[in-house]
Amino acid sequence: MEIRFKIRVSATLAMSPAMAVLTTENKESQYQNGVKRLHENGISKVPNKYILPVLERPNITKHQEANVTKNNLKLPIIDFHELQGPNRPQVLESLASACEQYGFFQLVNHGIPSDVVSNMIDVGTKFFELPFEERAKYMSSDMRAPVRYGTSFNQNKDRVFCWRDFLKLVCHPLPDVLPHWPSSPVDMRNLAATYAKETKYLFLMLMEAIFESLGLVESSSSPAKKKTTEEDEVLKEFEDGSQLMVVNCYPPCPQPDLTLGMPPHSDYGFLTLLLQDEVEGLQIQFQDEWVTVEPIANSFVVNVGDHLEIFSNGKYKSVLHRVLVNSRKDRISVASLHSLPFMRPVGPSPKLVDELNPKRYKDTDFASFIEYISSREPKKKNFLESRKLT
Ligand code: OGA
Ligand code: NI
Repeated sequence: MEIRFKIRVSATLAMSPAMAVLTTENKESQYQNGVKRLHENGISKVPNKYILPVLERPNITKHQEANVTKNNLKLPIIDFHELQGPNRPQVLESLASACEQYGFFQLVNHGIPSDVVSNMIDVGTKFFELPFEERAKYMSSDMRAPVRYGTSFNQNKDRVFCWRDFLKLVCHPLPDVLPHWPSSPVDMRNLAATYAKETKYLFLMLMEAIFESLGLVESSSSPAKKKTTEEDEVLKEFEDGSQLMVVNCYPPCPQPDLTLGMPPHSDYGFLTLLLQDEVEGLQIQFQDEWVTVEPIANSFVVNVGDHLEIFSNGKYKSVLHRVLVNSRKDRISVASLHSLPFMRPVGPSPKLVDELNPKRYKDTDFASFIEYISSREPKKKNFLESRKLT
């Protein structure tokens, strides 16, 4: 008995380092498979991999006040329909002040048929309900792949993972990328392509309004409008600009206070059009506080990205935002990120640079951004900071 015991002990001792490695590896790859998978397998506690350092947890402000009461924010509302009518000048003023003060606004009366929007949410939801093996076909570590299924923020770099899975769809040029998009759910390509075209149109109309609000172009309906300017040419370039659609899936999380769905970040492009379902979670930084954006039915949350901050020479702000998770409900959002063509450098618009407002940013392009994020962990506003001229 004693001998057998000893043998067993030494065998265990001899095995344990190897087994420990194996277990760690299993755990690591389990996390690479995403949070939807974890949730499906049923967990009652957040694994260590997702636990943020105390100061980065969602309910602690930078002043270390615990149990801060929840702050909800009503963002400025821009009525897209009104923007196209006789009140355009007033709406442009609201647009300018929203972009300067919040970096965010809610777009209502946007004119995209409600079934196009609800179909996008539905097909996105269905994608994440597919068997894991089907979803896993689209996993890729190639940042430029036309379709990429993954988890966290940057799963190759993040030390602490966040509670999000995503499906990224490159949308331009659509005929080239469409055959690479998921073939199931069966209507995914069709519905997502329709949605992508509609949001692209909205983006183009919004950029026209934004250029007008910055005083860069005259109203296209203005009788005084004579010749095509350099800025009109830039507006035309957006038609061939980059577009990336990200379907975000935030499954219920057993301990939402310990982690985040997305860490504080800014978006890289000119504008992001975000569609969120009725479950709240998005928070933006406003007057040094994290405030929750209340979902409004049939609207888009639109935010200024790094490229627009650079292009406007700092007038319009690319604002930090993050996502909270909750223990009760799945949350789905679809972010549509738009910019100029991939290789086109972006710098401050010459018309917005003068003696009083010297050039505040270096020129940059999307390719340099991709290189930037693949080479290091994106932390807060690092990218924008790296473009600043001091
Ligand atoms: C994003 C983003 C917010 C959300 O995709 O960049 O900020 O509510 N999403 O999912
Ligand atoms: Ni974002």
